[in-house]
Amino acid sequence: MTIPAGQFKAGLDGIVVVQTAISEVDGANGRLTYRGYLIGEIAQKATFEETAHLLWVGHLPTQAELDALRTKLVSHRALPEAVTALITALPTDADPMDVLRSAISAYGAQTKIGGKATLDQAIALTAIFPVVLAAFHRNRTGQPFIAPRSDLGHAANYLYMLTGQVPEAHHIRSMDTYLNMVADHGMNASTFAARVIASTESDLCSSITGAIGALKGPLHGGAPALVLKMLQSIGTADNVEPWITTTLNSGGRLMGLGHRVYKTYDPRAEILREVAREAASPEMFALAEKTEHTALDELHRRKPNERLWTNVDFYSAVLLQAVGLPGDLFPPTFGVGRVAGWTAHILEQAPKNRLMRPESEYIGPRDLTYLPIDQRQGE
Ligand code: CMC
Repeated sequence: MTIPAGQFKAGLDGIVVVQTAISEVDGANGRLTYRGYLIGEIAQKATFEETAHLLWVGHLPTQAELDALRTKLVSHRALPEAVTALITALPTDADPMDVLRSAISAYGAQTKIGGKATLDQAIALTAIFPVVLAAFHRNRTGQPFIAPRSDLGHAANYLYMLTGQVPEAHHIRSMDTYLNMVADHGMNASTFAARVIASTESDLCSSITGAIGALKGPLHGGAPALVLKMLQSIGTADNVEPWITTTLNSGGRLMGLGHRVYKTYDPRAEILREVAREAASPEMFALAEKTEHTALDELHRRKPNERLWTNVDFYSAVLLQAVGLPGDLFPPTFGVGRVAGWTAHILEQAPKNRLMRPESEYIGPRDLTYLPIDQRQGE
């Protein structure tokens, strides 16, 4: 059947593709909830492990459930030899998102993760993300690999494996808050990608590998690294206004601002701004705040109907820099948190699965006839 014209919706704006009980994004009112909890209720109180349990299982864990989850996460922190070999064989100047995507794909091949997705598989994949990134970062900086520590939680162990130092308590708290904040977000592009792949009954690693690819783009998870570049390029407070004017005049986008769903201040940005205020150097925070205010003023003046506000990535960049991460580890660190949401969605998809297969509206020519090659004109 030919699809009638007029049904196409660019970017799937407003199209509902799944029902979910995992998270709710209320873009008009700037509210994000995980399984009924407002993000502000848990972000700064829960550890990442508690949040992951909430997303996967549906409730905050009891102490016994949390202990069991921690034990499982710790037991999956060992990298298979083939994955370590792959990580060390890749160029040291590779994009860490490419390394993460390749390593997770290799992990699936090596461990033969297959069949219907299970919670144990979700835990194993979540456990391995920080280990992959730390192994790559240590190797590219010519430093020896740091073995994971079973007495450290997920956030603390990530920072420990990157630096070799047990992180300060406030850095651990900042990292837990950040990971909680990005753990899930409705039908964002990477979660949608994961659910599309899962709907073909492919395996968990394939879905997650695809999701990493979707997350890499600058319109999604690639933005925080670009926010840092923007702030570094602005450099000083007196350069904020000219920099923003020049960028907007030349058609450029200001990173960390605007959102497809939030038409008001992103609730995650509000929390991260306050965490960043505590964690960052006063100079860095002042530059970021001035940039944000000037950018919002300018965007509101130039595009009064677009309702452009600060998104999660703006203060993520300031926070992640403050805990000591290099800029190119920001996007995969987003993945360290989001893998909990991706896997929760894949687990949710399986019991009531239906292959996702939308339609397309054909707008090309019709009824052409085949011409032998010697009669064709070049176009
Ligand atoms: N800077 C300058 N102009 C902007 C920006 C921005 N950050 N965001 C939107 N606009 C303009 C855009 O140029 C367009 O104007 P015009 O119609 O005159 O060309 C108008 O606002 C509408 O933009 P759009 O691209 O149609 O809106 P969208 O809903 O598709 O875009 C967005 C959402 C996030 C892709 C966009 O706001 C953007 O590119 N932001 C910068 C990148 C960024 O911060 N990405 C992280 C997103 S949040 C993290 C996540 O959830 O993954």
